[in-house]
Amino acid sequence: MIIIANGALVTPEGLRRGDIALDGGRIVEVAARIEPGPSDTVEDATGCWVLPGLIDAHTHLQCWTGMDWTADSFETGTRAAACGGTTTIVDYATADRGVTMDEALAEWHRRADGACTANYGFHMAIAEWGDDSPGQMRRMREAGVSSFKTYLAYDHLRLTDAETLRCLEAVRELDAVLCVHCENGDVVDELQRAVLARGITGPEGHPLSRPAEAEADAVSRLLYLASIAGARVNVVHLSTELGLEAVRAARARGQRGVFVETCPQYLTLDDTRYLEEGDDGFAGAKYVMSPPLRKPSDVRALRAAVLAGEVDSIATDHCSFNLHGQKDRGRGDFTRIPNGGPGIEHRPAVMATAFEGRLGPVELARLMSEGPARVFGMWPRKGRLAPGADADVCVWDPRARWTISAATQQQAVDYTPYEGMEAHGRAHLVYVGGVLAARDGAPTGARPGTYVSR
Ligand code: URP
Ligand code: ZN
Repeated sequence: MIIIANGALVTPEGLRRGDIALDGGRIVEVAARIEPGPSDTVEDATGCWVLPGLIDAHTHLQCWTGMDWTADSFETGTRAAACGGTTTIVDYATADRGVTMDEALAEWHRRADGACTANYGFHMAIAEWGDDSPGQMRRMREAGVSSFKTYLAYDHLRLTDAETLRCLEAVRELDAVLCVHCENGDVVDELQRAVLARGITGPEGHPLSRPAEAEADAVSRLLYLASIAGARVNVVHLSTELGLEAVRAARARGQRGVFVETCPQYLTLDDTRYLEEGDDGFAGAKYVMSPPLRKPSDVRALRAAVLAGEVDSIATDHCSFNLHGQKDRGRGDFTRIPNGGPGIEHRPAVMATAFEGRLGPVELARLMSEGPARVFGMWPRKGRLAPGADADVCVWDPRARWTISAATQQQAVDYTPYEGMEAHGRAHLVYVGGVLAARDGAPTGARPGTYVSR
């Protein structure tokens, strides 16, 4: 048995000082004091927060995104996740056009099985709608995939509104959740053409082509479609105040099953980053992700929404590409810069630092563990420290001080958007299924990650 002793435990009943025991992949006891036996391992957690293992429910590992392969594989990505405190990811398996969901799921298992340090589940992204899609979705549900994704932007991925409605009806029938990328694809396509025609070809053209209104329009449309279908939806990577207002309007109408996810980058960085030059004048490409970084007023509005409890989960949308050799192929045409950025390793530290004194351990655990566990069908097995739950635990030291840097990160990518940030707090010990996977930001070499059927 492993006993984590004398920590500040985040339990379903609230914060309490005590010990927690792990055995056989499960939490077996939570108590004020657990007497160790002669063969038990005791780890002292004095001064630390003991959190249910953190869950990142939005990642893209080892996948082709239409322009390039992501830099992180399941091996490197889940190792980096665990080093930062994340014990479970839910990755987007994607059934590209011409590929069935069964084929995509089998392929994602081939990529992930046996390679992962953190646990992994899959959403299924649907890029093409047909008569047999509901049947394929039912088979996904039986295989432990209880959430799906569709896009309202990206020409090679997006469904029409009619197809989205059909998909939402299937989601309702399966009691699943549909995650949706909310940007108006027609508007983005048109504005990309217009911005390039004005001679704006660098990374600063990216946010100009994807205005807040394009997000808000899509969020609003999605929520009306979900209301017609009576389906649960998760608005992924919400980035704007206007989009937030659309969510508030739906909730004010009494619509149930409206979940909101945002990401650390939309809570800490703004669109002035696109002007960053770096060594070769192209450093702004690091921040080319969709949706783009927004105005400081959007950052403020989203931060307030997080503090007000309007956001259900914080995920990363980790989708890493190297600046040199991948993103820089878009020099001279920002629409050719692969979209996405890294974050899987640093989400807990960025959140704890950016919200220091405003979000305590209970709130951080709600946003990064309990919230995603509930939305994505993992509760009560994950997302809580209680006997019977999986032994996924993050012992967080809020006193640690360190500097986030690409030079020391585990993520297999040549930059981090948070370079130079002095982090307040660090994952001291990270257990995945009761196995120590990382200590003080370094991997132990164990690969205990298993598939999470939801
Ligand atoms: O730019 C991003 N976020 N790329 C990943 C795909 C997506 O939109 O989620
Ligand atoms: Zn994404």
